Amino acid sequence: MQPRILIADDQADILSALKLLLKREGFDVATADLNYTRDTTSGEEGLELVDQLRKLHPELPVVVMTAWATVEVAVQAMRRGANDFLEKPWNNQRLLSVLANQVKLAEARQRGRRLADENAILRASDGANLVASSRPMQDVVRLARQVAPSDASVLITGEPGTGKSLLARLIHDWSHRAEKSFISVNAGGLPESVFESEMFGHVKGAFTDAKADRSGRFELADGGTLFLDEIGNVPPAQQARLLRALETGEFERVGSSRTQRANVRVVSATNADLAAMIRDGRFREDLLFRINTVEIRLPPLRERREEIFELATAALGRKATQYGRAVTGFDAGALAALQQYNWPGNVRELNSVVERSLLLAGGAEVGVADLRLSPDRAAPPSLEEMSLGDAERALIRSAIKRNGGSVPAAAEALGLSRSAMYRRLEKLGLKPDEL
Ligand SMILES: Nc1ncnc2c1ncn2[C@@H]1O[C@H](COP(=O)(O)OP(=O)(O)OP(=O)(O)O)[C@@H](O)[C@H]1O
Ligand SMILES: [Mg+2]
Repeated sequence: MQPRILIADDQADILSALKLLLKREGFDVATADLNYTRDTTSGEEGLELVDQLRKLHPELPVVVMTAWATVEVAVQAMRRGANDFLEKPWNNQRLLSVLANQVKLAEARQRGRRLADENAILRASDGANLVASSRPMQDVVRLARQVAPSDASVLITGEPGTGKSLLARLIHDWSHRAEKSFISVNAGGLPESVFESEMFGHVKGAFTDAKADRSGRFELADGGTLFLDEIGNVPPAQQARLLRALETGEFERVGSSRTQRANVRVVSATNADLAAMIRDGRFREDLLFRINTVEIRLPPLRERREEIFELATAALGRKATQYGRAVTGFDAGALAALQQYNWPGNVRELNSVVERSLLLAGGAEVGVADLRLSPDRAAPPSLEEMSLGDAERALIRSAIKRNGGSVPAAAEALGLSRSAMYRRLEKLGLKPDEL
């Protein structure tokens, strides 16, 4: 294929001379007659052109030519993104070799990007160890793969630990945005006052701690995917602002009136009943309509028990390698117990039970005792008579005790995120160090 080249200059004779030369050399040539208005010697307008070209096309090879070649102008042009530099009057030999070189480099870059794309597809197609052999999970994966390449907003619902975050990541990997960023925001983990600036960035001086300009997650996700985790926890006052950004792509950094744009694909996740929150006035209905173009529900583990064995075996293999333990499987009793247990914390709970059992196992196989899966240990006998708050308190206390006082480990065992655990501790008036 003929390489295309655009020659831009303010002198007609230069344009025609270059056109003649480059046509003969097999280029497909277009010319643009520039009309420099400010001055003809500083090169400033030419440099501005480099900026504009870069904005339009970040990878287009740009070669700058100037009659006033100084190191200074060369450095400036290269700094603004020019790929090479020539002096006027030009030497035909050097001109042609510079252009041939740039064409070759651009082709190599394109090839490299195609390879990276292909690798991403290969990588993604193994689904990052996703176990999805059950009927309900096959339906989930089929739907996710089907919507991934579109820019449709996807809302993933499901109990804690069912794989919502994992699936969000896979939807990104299966999309055309795979090579761009995947940016997560955990709305539950951010205090209301911080949410806006985390989300949209701020300018220096916007508030006491704003020592410098900072980009928000929305801006960082430009061209890629923004994952809004625990979206039910977005502070009510921020929901309208978020809706506008999602609808128009427009936002302002905190403390700035300059409107910026970002092209973002949104995947959200929640374990909350958003419909009920809408009825209570805690979640905006229009925001829900914006984020749930496609809704994917991840079934709890107890609705796909046929996958328990595969998940447990995979987790055991991973952890055995990590800890260098020669434990190869589960004995019959352990398998039966894994099958029967109710898994309120779903896959996350299964993974942590397996990890602990590996460490406790004495022989080559995990036994039923190593699993420590006695539901009545977690649930005191008088559970029925307790208030919900007391029952939660008792569950959390015993989980922390079982995990040697570690709150993060207890959160993991209960299938809660750390932030959700700390929120609960606060709500229930529990102090971890007094437990
Ligand atoms: N189908 C699956 N195959 C393999 N691993 C899985 C699967 N589902 C979940 N996991 C693993 O289980 C753990 C919990 O999953 P994940 O964090 O995605 O759940 P979640 O639904 O986002 O939980 P939360 O509601 O607490 O945010 C992760 O380590 C994840 O990799
Ligand atoms: Mg998650």
